[in-house]
Amino acid sequence: MTQALTNDHIGTRERWHSHQPTGTIRPHSTLIIEFIVMNIRELLNAKVLHAMHACGIPADLPALIAPGKKAGFGDYQANCAMGAAKAMSTNPRELAAKIMAVLAPELEKEGIATKIEIAGPGFINIDLNPEWLGQQIANAQTNTRLNIATVSEPQNVVIDYSGPNLAKEMHVGHLRSTIIGDALARLLEFQGHKVIRQNHVGDWGTQFGMLIAELEEQLGANGNSNMALKDLEVFYQQAKKHFDDDAAFADKARSYVVRLQSGDTAMLKLWKQFKDISLHHSTEIYQQLNVTLKYSDVCGESFYNDDLAPLVNDLQIQGLAVESEGAQVVFLQELADKDGNPSPVIIQKQGGGFLYATTDLAALRYRVKTLHASRIMYFIDARQSLHLQQVFTLARKAKFVADNVSLEHLAFGTMMGSDGKPFKTRTGGTVKLAELLIEAVERAGVVVSEKNSELSPTEIAEVSRKVGIGAVKYADLCKTRTNDYIFSWESMLSFEGNTAPYLQYAFTRVQSIFRKAGVTPESLTQNIIINTEQEKTLAIKLLQFSEVIDQVAREALPHLLCTYIYDVASLYMTFYEACPILKEGIPPELRDSRLRLCHLVARTIEQGLDLLGIEVMERM
Ligand code: ARG
Repeated sequence: MTQALTNDHIGTRERWHSHQPTGTIRPHSTLIIEFIVMNIRELLNAKVLHAMHACGIPADLPALIAPGKKAGFGDYQANCAMGAAKAMSTNPRELAAKIMAVLAPELEKEGIATKIEIAGPGFINIDLNPEWLGQQIANAQTNTRLNIATVSEPQNVVIDYSGPNLAKEMHVGHLRSTIIGDALARLLEFQGHKVIRQNHVGDWGTQFGMLIAELEEQLGANGNSNMALKDLEVFYQQAKKHFDDDAAFADKARSYVVRLQSGDTAMLKLWKQFKDISLHHSTEIYQQLNVTLKYSDVCGESFYNDDLAPLVNDLQIQGLAVESEGAQVVFLQELADKDGNPSPVIIQKQGGGFLYATTDLAALRYRVKTLHASRIMYFIDARQSLHLQQVFTLARKAKFVADNVSLEHLAFGTMMGSDGKPFKTRTGGTVKLAELLIEAVERAGVVVSEKNSELSPTEIAEVSRKVGIGAVKYADLCKTRTNDYIFSWESMLSFEGNTAPYLQYAFTRVQSIFRKAGVTPESLTQNIIINTEQEKTLAIKLLQFSEVIDQVAREALPHLLCTYIYDVASLYMTFYEACPILKEGIPPELRDSRLRLCHLVARTIEQGLDLLGIEVMERM
């Protein structure tokens, strides 16, 4: 038995010990598991609340369960006594002792904890029973969902992400929305929600007149739109130059927008050709990025065209939109500046044209009315905060959205270059995503080859792809979403630290242990023995996966999942150093127990990375 588990050195504490000796290996049958625990925090929460009620503590006071922060201070803590004592004007330590008197026998009876003690002003520290932990690990290891429950009340969640402007090729500015949004889509789907992806692409508006006029001319010349639009960037520049230099062309472009927006079939046909080819580019990028967005998730600005005039009309009838200098404007007092001036939202321009905000209002109405969303998540750059605040406020005011629908702008910061300025090419241009991804795979190829592995050239290519793409995605996902971050090839491709390659490598290490052991995980039936400090710490971490998933789902902060996977991998490395597995002299039951723990580590890393849209490999 290790020090931290017996904790005898802390003499001043009141403590309760299990009557069962801990740390000795006992057969599976000494404990009867009444139910499989999906979430330790929730389990303890229920138990502590129950004990609190038994002590006459008002039902609305929380149990405040948290994982222990320091070794020796409980695997989990219940921090309820201080607040409850304050509310009841009594002594917190005495109240904690009362709670403990109810809680301890119950946790003991069920074999959940070995020791409960009161520390400091009234913290209740709970040490979990290693044997019980072993059983939970065994359950998780053999369960297809790693014992992670699906939500009891699935929601319709609309996730608005990526949303590139189709006039141009995707560039790094679209990276964050695309990969953070996709991680949340995957995670909420894993939880059992109905996720409706909405790719709100920019496929409408004045520049499309110019683009289709250009397309028409180029088609006249060579007849093949695929050829003309081979490089969207070049095409855009040609159209722009044409527009700037040639007044007749510019007039034509302007008349084309009007014809397009009023539904002219010839114009729509050209526009559709352009849109299809541009979307084909984006779809290719999504595939390369291992992002789940499909062609069918596209619901761009053009989709709402027919609803814009009725929407403006509706806002006028409601008395919200008023004419101001020939435009239709809603003045929002709710978002007034510090001098009390209301925030103006233009919904129709003087000439009759509609705006970005009008389309977003129509989209919001559609998402609520037709898609029946109860949660709508927007993964859009922080610089669009005001726009979204206006749209949300106005939509609620106009009763397009009921109060119980959650509208969330999940803003993110900017990707910076090493100079601390927004990431650009050496010559100051925007970096095309397609080129960035090629470079990522090439650079990964260099580091993977340096590893001197025995992989064949085809395997190296495949591993480099997974490592390169994974590195770019992970480097973004592991940063706090709301912050800016500095893009650095060196740190993201490092095999040390909180990086994709480190985690992918940890996964391959487990695979190689199984190859060496010559066993399959499925063949292992030995009980899981949690004996050492390292095994216990690792086991508890592994069992916290569902807590982390819940938190990421609530707060839309994927970096919390990254930190978690990184912690699992690091604790695994520590465990691996301290607890020999295949060494001679290790009894077979201990070997198999540790192998099962390894297997759950690998599955957790794999599942965690999969929720982030990052692939693993058998070897590297
Ligand atoms: N196309 C927009 C842009 O490039 C992003 C769209 C975001 N989604 C939305 N519903 N506004 O800035």
